[in-house]
Amino acid sequence: MNEHEDDNTSTSPTLMEVVEARLSRRGVLRVGMGTAGAAVLAGIAGCGGGGDDAVAAPAPAPVARPLALSFTPVAKSTADVVSVPAGYTATVIYALGDPLTSDAPAFANDGSDTNYENRAGDHHDGMEYYGLNAAGARDVAGSDRGVLAMNHEALTDQFLHVAGVTANPRPPAEADKEMPAHGLSFVELRKTGGRFATVKDSIFNRRVTPLTPMRVNGPARGHALMTTKFSTAGTDCRGTINNCGTGSTPWGTFLSGEENWAGYFFRNATDNATRGGSTAGSVVSLNRFGSTQGAASRHGWETAGTEDRFARWDISRKGTSTDGTDDYRNELNTFGWIIEADPYNATQAIRKRTALGRFAHESAAFGLRAVGKPLAVYMGDDSRGEYIYKYVSTANWDAADANPANRITTGDKYLDSGRLHVARFNADGSGQWIELTTANAAIAGYTSYRFADQADVLVNARLAADAVGATRMDRPEWCAVHPVTGEVYYTLTNNSNRKVEPSGASQMAVDASNPRAYTDAPPAATAPGNINGHIVRMRETGGESAATAFTWDIYLFGAEAGMDAARVNLSSLTGDHDFSSPDGLVFSARTGLAFIQTDDGAYTDVTNCMMLVGMPGQVGDGAVQSLEYTKADGSKLTVQTRVGAKPTLATLRRFLVGPAGCEITGLAETPDGKAIFVNIQHPGESIAKANVGDPAKYQSHWPGNAGYGAGGALARPRSATIVITRDDGGLIGVDGDAVLNAL
Ligand code: FEO
Ligand code: CA
Ligand code: CA
Repeated sequence: MNEHEDDNTSTSPTLMEVVEARLSRRGVLRVGMGTAGAAVLAGIAGCGGGGDDAVAAPAPAPVARPLALSFTPVAKSTADVVSVPAGYTATVIYALGDPLTSDAPAFANDGSDTNYENRAGDHHDGMEYYGLNAAGARDVAGSDRGVLAMNHEALTDQFLHVAGVTANPRPPAEADKEMPAHGLSFVELRKTGGRFATVKDSIFNRRVTPLTPMRVNGPARGHALMTTKFSTAGTDCRGTINNCGTGSTPWGTFLSGEENWAGYFFRNATDNATRGGSTAGSVVSLNRFGSTQGAASRHGWETAGTEDRFARWDISRKGTSTDGTDDYRNELNTFGWIIEADPYNATQAIRKRTALGRFAHESAAFGLRAVGKPLAVYMGDDSRGEYIYKYVSTANWDAADANPANRITTGDKYLDSGRLHVARFNADGSGQWIELTTANAAIAGYTSYRFADQADVLVNARLAADAVGATRMDRPEWCAVHPVTGEVYYTLTNNSNRKVEPSGASQMAVDASNPRAYTDAPPAATAPGNINGHIVRMRETGGESAATAFTWDIYLFGAEAGMDAARVNLSSLTGDHDFSSPDGLVFSARTGLAFIQTDDGAYTDVTNCMMLVGMPGQVGDGAVQSLEYTKADGSKLTVQTRVGAKPTLATLRRFLVGPAGCEITGLAETPDGKAIFVNIQHPGESIAKANVGDPAKYQSHWPGNAGYGAGGALARPRSATIVITRDDGGLIGVDGDAVLNAL
């Protein structure tokens, strides 16, 4: 039922309705009306104003109103296909194993393939697009040619091998396939005859793997916590792993977040004692980041041989040195960072940006920038009860840096020195950014872990955030900044440890910003907690990147449409836009639309994972709502939360549903807003080793069943990038031809 379909949006206007923005011929956004958004918009205008065209901001300014979602909502589905609205076409362009160079033969997709250093990796995740002109130079408006940069988060490992995974000790040949199937891809795309395709052997094509040498930059460079057998000076490290969300810098580089890295490493069963016992600093740190002694590692690569590329995954203290230069006891400290790579120049060493803190990183989203003001980078830590972070650069933004001669050293300028903050959400709708610094008495005096210095605070950001009493959130996944309002949106994907009456340190009580704990409707009857997740948004005080206070509300609560509107379906979602477990989140720089992607396990009896398109308003456009809980002893608990304006079919629609077993993640667009790239991650990931040889037992055959690559209707499933375009050549999601003419 669609009782909200005809809601009058004038009672809860979207900001694009409130603000009448116009684009000048120079692409600079001007503000036509004084509103709450004017101060922020003035910042945008200042960024481009006065500069020449060469230093125009990389992201084109949002188009003017009026815009309205103009596609038919896609129905929920469990079919093994990608569904998009009528009038749109989705095409696979880059799937697991696709060759980047002529050195790699066509992908057989039967487990026999090798040489992933020259093929697409597995589990495509966050993604960014970098425009090129016809001559192959950086062009922020390049919509016919570009470099697609993406993460390869993890593996559906059974399908990488002919007969599935061999148990420990792992055969070296299997480990040598699995490692390089992680990391990053850079792949050139060109549009010919209106269709995008990858370019084999392009100079921009590049794989980065867990073995690629990188630099440690920022405050932890050369620190005692970073010394390893590989880099006794603590200045260098190897590789990146479990890369999830992404970011794009104003100077044209790619940011990638290292997420669930701890589980790839092994510590022997007596490692805690060898390090000095359970209260020793390194043991407290390892445990806080999820590295438990004696626990099996994710892929057992440390068992594949004594060669260094295998041995480094065993991070037990084994050497006799006191500084860790003769083993890999500190290796874990070289993971958990935001890394920066230049997509246009493979010769520039990738940097681990330690100033941004170490945790289970998702995306890194820049706040709106203004000349002469610091840059803000928003980040989340994806585990149950982890925190929301903001980095503020020491350097103030210089518009000339939008098109610098050297991009990676421009990154050194803005991302190697700054202040890291963590968020505390208050029940009254306010919040604070608390700086993580040794100058904070709670950090300096923390008794659970003694911080040696500021670099230690950054390496152990989770512990520092614990010390200052940050708010434990329902698994912060991606964040994104609205290109007009500058408000910051975070997906909180779900949290099975959120309880009305928590028990034990791992559980947490419902609170204003994480207010739900409930039981799913049948048939998934036993999943208490915040099952479906929500999306919180924050507005910086004064619109300032360096603000230390903010206001917040909940943009959307995920829920099944049929669930209790008083306690669960607080956003009154209907069948055309109900969803569960929001994860990927990206705003279009062209249209300001929000792309919301799901990685769900709760609503999958009804639908595969999906992507919605939203047109959000702003913080405070909804109402305060009280949730009533009854405790075990019969007493009542009331939690007051702040629910954003309820979506209507005019402001939120389901745009895509993916094939069986996948999650939808990663989104990049061409600067003209006419093509979007989306990743279909791990279709058919549910596969037992015993069934690898029996295609009838596969959960998915996509994209082989859609005619892509070898195998056809019986193919092994593959993670893949699709490109989506509109058959009439228009903007994605909205009818904007008149606007385009105005450009
Ligand atoms: Fe890689 Fe938090 O999802
Ligand atoms: Ca994710
Ligand atoms: Ca995920």
